[in-house]
Amino acid sequence: MLLLAAAFIVAFVLLLYMVSPLISPSPLKLAGAHVVVTGGSSGIGKCIAIECFKCGAFITLVARNESKLVQAKKEIEKYAINEKQVVICISVDVSKDYRQVENVIKQAQEKLGPVDMLVNCAGMAIAGTFEEIEIGQFTRLMEVNYLGSVYASRAVISTMKERRMGRVVFVSSQAGQLGLFGYTAYSPSKFALRGLAEALQMEVKPYNVYITVAYPPDTDTPGFAEENKSKPLETKLISESSSLCQPEQVAKVIVKDAIQGNFNSSVGSDGYMLSSLTCGMSPVTTITEGLQQVVTMGLFRTIALFYLGSFDSIVRRCMMQKQNCEQASKTD
Ligand SMILES: *[C@@H]1O[C@H](CO)[C@@H](O)[C@H](O)[C@H]1NC(C)=O
Ligand SMILES: *[C@@H]1O[C@H](CO)[C@@H](O)[C@H](O)[C@H]1NC(C)=O
Ligand SMILES: *[C@@H]1O[C@H](CO)[C@@H](O)[C@H](O)[C@H]1NC(C)=O
Repeated sequence: MLLLAAAFIVAFVLLLYMVSPLISPSPLKLAGAHVVVTGGSSGIGKCIAIECFKCGAFITLVARNESKLVQAKKEIEKYAINEKQVVICISVDVSKDYRQVENVIKQAQEKLGPVDMLVNCAGMAIAGTFEEIEIGQFTRLMEVNYLGSVYASRAVISTMKERRMGRVVFVSSQAGQLGLFGYTAYSPSKFALRGLAEALQMEVKPYNVYITVAYPPDTDTPGFAEENKSKPLETKLISESSSLCQPEQVAKVIVKDAIQGNFNSSVGSDGYMLSSLTCGMSPVTTITEGLQQVVTMGLFRTIALFYLGSFDSIVRRCMMQKQNCEQASKTD
C-alpha cells in the first residue's frame, strides 16, 4: 500500500516535471513596461504602482477622484529610477460604462504604448448582515468589484493576445476564498473574480498571457478604515484571527507573483493555507506549487474545521448577547 502511494507520488512528480516547461511562463520585465493600475490612487493599488515604478515601469493610474490621482502621481514620481519614466492619470469610473473604459485605455496606449500589465485594484467593501445591507449595494459591489475588472481586462486583452505577452491581475480578497459573517454582498463579488480568472486563463494561456488572482488579508488602507465603520461585531471578532497587513507588503507580493505569472498570490500563513485549501481546479504554475497543494490539502482541511467551529461559536455568542440585551431592555 505504502509502495503504491510512493509510486503514485513519483509518477505525479515526473508528470509535472514533463509538463512544467509548458506551464512555467518566462518572467515579465518591468523595466520600460506599461503598467495600468485601476484604483491606483490609494491603498494597495497605489503601492503596486510604486512597486512597479521602482522597477522602471511606466504607469497609468486609473481612479475616479482627480485630486487624489494628482496626489498619488506626485508620490509615485519620487521613486523614479530614470528620467524617461512617466505616470499618467486618468479619471474615470471603471464600473459604469464599457465604452468609456475602452476609450481611456486606448488613450493610455497611444501615450505609453501597449499595456504589458493590467492590475485590477479598483474595489470597495461593505459589511453588514444580509437584511441590513441596502439592496442596491448588492448591485453596486458587483459593478465595482466584478464588472469594473471585466471592463478594464476586456479593453486590454486583444492587444495582449496579438502581442503574445501580457499579465492581468485581479485583486480578490481572503473573503473571495471563504464566505464570512457580514459579507453576503462583498464575498460573492470577490468570488466572481476567481471564476472569471480561471476561465480567462484557459483561453489566453496559449497566447502567453498570464492571469494572477491575489487574495490579500485585511490591509491597512483608507478603504479598510471606511469599511471598518459599518462592520458588525461578529465580522470584527472573526477577522481578528488574522492580523492587519500593510499595503506595501501586500503590493510587493502581488507584483512578484504577477511578474512570475503565478495564478495565485497570497500573503501570510493563513493566506497560504486558504490558497491551498481552495486551489480546486485552478491552474498550476510550478511543480512545487502543485506538490504542496497535494500534500497539504488534508491537513489544512482539518485545521479549517477548527476555525469554522470557532467562527460559529463567535456568531452564536453574539446572538445570545443580543437576545439578553433585548430581554433586559424589555423588562426595564
Ligand atoms: C476627492 O478626494 C478628496 C481628498 O481625499 C476629497 O476631499 C474629495 O471630497 C473627493 N472628491 C470626490 C468627488 O469624491
Ligand atoms: C476599527 O474599528 C474598531 C472599533 O470598532 C477600532 O478599535 C479599530 O482600531 C478600527 N481599525 C481600523 C484599522 O480603523
Ligand atoms: C499562493 O501564492 C503564494 C505566494 O503569493 C505562495 O507562497 C503559495 O505557495 C501559493 N499557494 C498555492 C496553494 O499555490
